[in-house]
Amino acid sequence: MKQKIVAKGLHKIFGRRPEVAMEMLRKGQHKDEIFEQTGMVVGVRDVNFAVNEGEIFVIMGLSGSGKSTLIRLLNRLIDPTAGQILVDGVDVATMNKAQLIELRRRDMAMVFQSFALLPHLTVLDNAAFGLDVAGVGRKERELRALEVLDAVGLKAFAHKRPAELSGGMQQRVGLARALAVNPSLMLMDEAFSALDPLKRTEMQELLLTLQKEHKRTVIFVSHDLDEAFRIGNRIAIMEGGRIVQIGTPEEILRNPADDYVRAFFKGVDVKRYLTAKDIALQDEVLVIEAPSDVAAGFESAIGRLRQMRRNYCFVVDTERRVLGAVSIDSMRRCLEEGTMSLEDALLDDIQPISGDMRINELIRHIVKNPYPLPIVNGERRYVGAVTQTILLRNLAQETGNA
Ligand SMILES: Nc1ncnc2c1ncn2[C@@H]1O[C@H](COP(=O)(O)OP(=O)(O)O)[C@@H](O)[C@H]1O
Ligand SMILES: [Mg+2]
Repeated sequence: MKQKIVAKGLHKIFGRRPEVAMEMLRKGQHKDEIFEQTGMVVGVRDVNFAVNEGEIFVIMGLSGSGKSTLIRLLNRLIDPTAGQILVDGVDVATMNKAQLIELRRRDMAMVFQSFALLPHLTVLDNAAFGLDVAGVGRKERELRALEVLDAVGLKAFAHKRPAELSGGMQQRVGLARALAVNPSLMLMDEAFSALDPLKRTEMQELLLTLQKEHKRTVIFVSHDLDEAFRIGNRIAIMEGGRIVQIGTPEEILRNPADDYVRAFFKGVDVKRYLTAKDIALQDEVLVIEAPSDVAAGFESAIGRLRQMRRNYCFVVDTERRVLGAVSIDSMRRCLEEGTMSLEDALLDDIQPISGDMRINELIRHIVKNPYPLPIVNGERRYVGAVTQTILLRNLAQETGNA
């Protein structure tokens, strides 16, 4: 996987003598101490991460934890006190002014919480604004702006002024403006935070849809766990200028680094974010390969199941793709009736479940179904089983965490 943007040892001190504050940090002094003694603010402290191409990377943290400072460092709206930022492998500090402007105009787009639309321009001209700045001619820029307005569902409003639009629609214009320049990297700072919950969810869905159509690297700042979990491939959690944890939503849920991280889960229904593959267990259910000699295969499977005191096993093909499940009873019946076909022994009620299914939905399947369910990946290959017991154990655990 290609790394799109890398931060190495990134620091930002606000104040007159940052080198003094840096020295204090090196001696292990805390942000608060440094502020008390010098009046300088440690905005970002020793931040390291690598964001892969096509990833949505969410930076989450309480207000004042350094999220905006960090995202502004990334596009050099502010200069770091120390550390490096690499974009496509190039250290942005080595870029001259012209290269930096070019990078910002064409390759990185920023969307803020405040819509920052120009009131005297039409929606179309607002959407085309970034292209205008980048020196794209009128015809092309209007064509492109109409395309992105269409993508965000605002084509019909192209000739209105921003004031004639609702807040949610204005934020879409802001998004369209960023998308119009077709950036490979989007930086979004609390872009949806000003919207009411419904509009906000709508924008999150829109972002995910756009992301499916056109993979961009997105760095998304949010103070909201729900939003972070919904859209983030990975999440970095910031506290006091530092990143205290980086991981996928599942990793963070399963293993919160400390109480600060755990506190974000309060009041959030965390089990919603777990998926079938997160809880599936490999060795819970016997898995057999489809036998070429059905009678012998069934006899041996029945023997093994009896030994294990189990009733069901899953059947896979030579590439471990799940064909279904059989039980001692269904195999017995085939043997007695002499049908000798695997298909006849497969249980109708047990269908493979996608590993990406959220636990909430999985509960519905399991409640209907007392059997273990085979969980499969995108290629229908077996990844493990979920049973009622496994599900309950996980739910109990999550409740304990929260
Ligand atoms: N220009 C600035 N001058 C001094 N302190 C600043 C400046 N910008 C931000 N800060 C301080 O840096 C810290 C991080 O702020 P910020 O990055 O805006 O946090 P967040 O976006 O997570 O709310 C805060 O303590 C804030 O007061
Ligand atoms: Mg902020």
